[in-house]
Amino acid sequence: MHKVDVVIGAFFGDEGKGKIIDYLSVKSDISVRCAGGNNAGHTIVFDGKKFAMHLIPSGIFSGAIAVIGNGVVIDPAVLLDEIKMLEDAGISIENLKISSKAHIILPYHKEYDLLEEEIRGENKIGTTKRGIGPTYSDKMSRFGIRVEDFISPKFYDLLKQNLENKNKLLALYNMKTLELDEVFEEYSQYAKILKPYVCDTVSLIHNALESNKKVVCEGAQATLLDIDFGTYPFVTSSNTTIGGILNGSSLNASNIGRVYGVIKAYSSRVGEGPYLTEINDATGDLIRELGHEYGTTTKRPRRCGWLDLVALKYAVRVNGFTDIAMNHLDTIGKLNEIKLCVGYCDENGIVTTDYTTNTDELSKMKPVYQTFEGNFDATGVRKFNKLPKNAKAYIKAIENFINVQVSIIGTGPDREDLIVRK
Ligand code: GDP
Ligand code: IMO
Ligand code: MG
Repeated sequence: MHKVDVVIGAFFGDEGKGKIIDYLSVKSDISVRCAGGNNAGHTIVFDGKKFAMHLIPSGIFSGAIAVIGNGVVIDPAVLLDEIKMLEDAGISIENLKISSKAHIILPYHKEYDLLEEEIRGENKIGTTKRGIGPTYSDKMSRFGIRVEDFISPKFYDLLKQNLENKNKLLALYNMKTLELDEVFEEYSQYAKILKPYVCDTVSLIHNALESNKKVVCEGAQATLLDIDFGTYPFVTSSNTTIGGILNGSSLNASNIGRVYGVIKAYSSRVGEGPYLTEINDATGDLIRELGHEYGTTTKRPRRCGWLDLVALKYAVRVNGFTDIAMNHLDTIGKLNEIKLCVGYCDENGIVTTDYTTNTDELSKMKPVYQTFEGNFDATGVRKFNKLPKNAKAYIKAIENFINVQVSIIGTGPDREDLIVRK
C-alpha cells in the first residue's frame, strides 16, 4: 500500500502550500483537503494563469480525485463559485468529492464571526470573517449541520431550530436577524447542485489505498494557527497540524509517509497575534513588495519578517516533518543581508531554542539572529548545484538547525520554478 504524503504549513499560513501540493498531486490519484474552510487561499499558477483556491483541493489541476474531507467547513456559495471558476477555465470538476460528514457554514455563522470580533474589541483576532470559528463551535456543541443533513429533507427543521436560536442573540446585539424562508430557499438550491458530489469519503479514501492508489493531503492554515499548538487565542478554530490531517480525512497514523513542512525563505502573518521575527521597518515593507505579500483571501497586507528557526523546530516536533519545502528563495536573494532567528532571549538574558505559545512569555522574548549574505539570483533555478553559494549557505544553516532536509525549493511562483532534491 502506498504511503500518504502530507503538506503542512509550518508558521502562520501562506507559505506556498498550494504550489507544493500541486507538484505532489501530479504523481497522485487522490488529493484531500482535511481542515479549515474558505479562510484558506492557496495560489496555483497553472498554464501561466493564477488561481486562488479556497476549498477545492489543489490536486484538481492535475486530474487527481479532489476530496473535501470531513474536517472541512464548507460555505456552499463559495464552493459553487469556485466550481464555476474552474469550469470557466476549462478545468474538469468531475473528480470533485465532498465528505458527507463535513459541516456547512450558514449565514448566521458569518454574522457571529463579525459579532464575536466586535465583542473582543481591542483583543480581536483579525479573522477572515468567513464564519469559520462559529461553524466549528456549532460542530463541537453539536448544533452543526453536516453535508449529509444539508442535502436531506432534515435540513429545514435543523435550520429552523438553529435560526430561531441564533436570531435571539443577533437581536440582542441589534444585528440584522435572518429570515428562515429566505435562507432555506437560497441554501436548498445550493444543496441540490452540490448533492451529486457528496459521498462517503472514508470508504473512498481507504478503498483507493487498498487498491494501491496514491493519496496526498493538503493542509490548510499552519502550525502556529492550530487551535491547540498555535498562539492561542490568535489562531484559527481547527487542528491545522498532523492530527487534524488524520481526523479531517479518516487516515490513520500508519498510512502516513512523507510529511512536508512548508516555509518561505522569510515569514509572514496576517491578522493579530505575536510574531517575534516581524520586521517593522523599510526591510519588512521591501519583503512585502518583493514577495507580493498581500492576502489571497482577504487582500490584507501581510506582516513580514525573518525566518524563525525556533518556531520551525517546534513545527518539526509537533508534525514530524520528514522534509521541508521552502518557497521564495528567489525573493530573499534580492536582499543584501538576510537574518535567521536561531534563538529566543528572555529578560534575564537566557537564550532558548524551545518555542512557547504562551503569549505573555513570548512578549518578553527577543529574537537572536545570525546574519547571512544575500544578493543572489535564484530566480527560476531548477537544479540545486546551480544555486549561488550564498543561497546554499543559507539552506545549509536551516538544515543543520532542524536536522531535516530542505527537499523542495521554490525559485518562483510558476509550477516549474522548483528544485527537487532526492
Ligand atoms: P498558501 O496559502 O500556503 O498556499 O500560500 P498563498 O498562495 O496564500 O501564498 C503564497 C504566494 O507565494 C502565492 O502568491 C504564490 O504564487 C507565491 N509563491 C509560491 N512559491 C513561490 C516562490 O518560490 N517564489 C515566488 N516568488 N513566489 C512564490
Ligand atoms: P492558508 O491556508 C493565513 C488567520 C486569520 C486570523 C486567524 C483566524 O491560505 O495558509 P479565521 O478566519 O480562521 O477564524 O481567522 O487565522 N488565517 C490565515 N492566515 N493563511 C491562512 O490560510 C489563514 N487562515 C486563517 O488571518 O489571523
Ligand atoms: Mg494562503
